[in-house]
Amino acid sequence: MTNRINGQWRLKSRPIGLVTENDFEYVETNLPDISEGEVLVRNIYLAFEPAMRGWLNDVKSYVPPVKIGEVMRASTVGQVIESNNPEFQPGQYVTGMMGWQEYFIDNGAPGAMGRSLNKVPEGVAPELMLSALGGTGLTAYFGMLDIGQPQKGDVVVVSGAAGATGSVAGQIAKIKGAAKVVGIAGGSEKCNWLTEELDFDAAIDYKAENVFDRLTEECPDGINIFFDNVGGQILDDALLNMAMNGRIVLCGGISSYNATELPPGPKNYMQLVIRRCTMQGFILIDYFHRATEAVAELADWVANGELKHAEDIQQGIENTPKTFLRLFEGKNKGKQLLRIAEPPF
Ligand SMILES: NC(=O)c1ccc[n+]([C@@H]2O[C@H](COP(=O)([O-])OP(=O)(O)OC[C@H]3O[C@@H](n4cnc5c(N)ncnc54)[C@H](OP(=O)(O)O)[C@@H]3O)[C@@H](O)[C@H]2O)c1
Repeated sequence: MTNRINGQWRLKSRPIGLVTENDFEYVETNLPDISEGEVLVRNIYLAFEPAMRGWLNDVKSYVPPVKIGEVMRASTVGQVIESNNPEFQPGQYVTGMMGWQEYFIDNGAPGAMGRSLNKVPEGVAPELMLSALGGTGLTAYFGMLDIGQPQKGDVVVVSGAAGATGSVAGQIAKIKGAAKVVGIAGGSEKCNWLTEELDFDAAIDYKAENVFDRLTEECPDGINIFFDNVGGQILDDALLNMAMNGRIVLCGGISSYNATELPPGPKNYMQLVIRRCTMQGFILIDYFHRATEAVAELADWVANGELKHAEDIQQGIENTPKTFLRLFEGKNKGKQLLRIAEPPF
């Protein structure tokens, strides 16, 4: 037995409505010695995504719910500090679904969501593997390119545009030749960031402006691609502004993740018929087998400055549930991360 204590955040109760800090509890356990073939990782960054709210509900979904008493599932990046596995050397940065905890012991078997540990390539900042070069970048990449299929000259609208996925999705559309990319986000500061730093052509502050009117103004010939992270009223406003043969990419619907009663479906869905549009959802896990091709292209764009990435980094494992709540409070700009340790170990 090592003398190491593993601080963990576990699910204490299933949230009803808005998730709260009290739905989790902090527990310290003794860390066992690693066995043959195992690797001990010290987590450095925890990553947060709105979908984690869905994993707390006891319902059938694309992954099983997190069990009461279980360490909260999350993607993280860390450093190998002990290894009984020739594949991994101490000092190697790795990423995986290692959860809300300080240490993780990996035995090489595929973990939550079918993923096992991946090495962070030499020279890549570890936190990038959780943002532009990780699940966030891959979601934006496959959602925009495979489902949205941008064509040169398209008008593209992205909701949740100042968040992790939205900020990357909008930039990818621009890189692929969209004539105009419009972001929808909460607050003037986020909107200015989109237009001044990320090269979005326009931004709509859904908290202060009429989204339907502004979409009509910004997209007079209609929207060719609507990349939706939000759902609800914003989806309905976009439906009424779609161009003929437009594509709606259903990436997520954060506006209802904490709802106790689901809103009625999009009332303007008949526009899909009238304007011959498609509306298609997707889940990133179906694209994991193509991750290498996406990461190579995303890494090139990051390296040549075409794709700007942003990480919102909070500090301290004690702030884990609080950091998760930032997503639903709209406090994050870019990828929400939490730094819980400082190498060297
Ligand atoms: N399909 C997939 O495989 C997949 C994979 C990853 C993520 N997703 C989805 O992609 C979306 C974005 O995820 P992310 O990780 O990039 O998170 P994120 O956008 O970085 O963070 C969430 C953002 O959503 C906005 N928001 C919160 N409550 C809202 C509400 N009621 N109405 C409108 N906007 C609200 C906030 O920005 P504002 O300040 O602008 O309100 C907040 O910053 C989520 O819906 C997520 O579930 C899907």
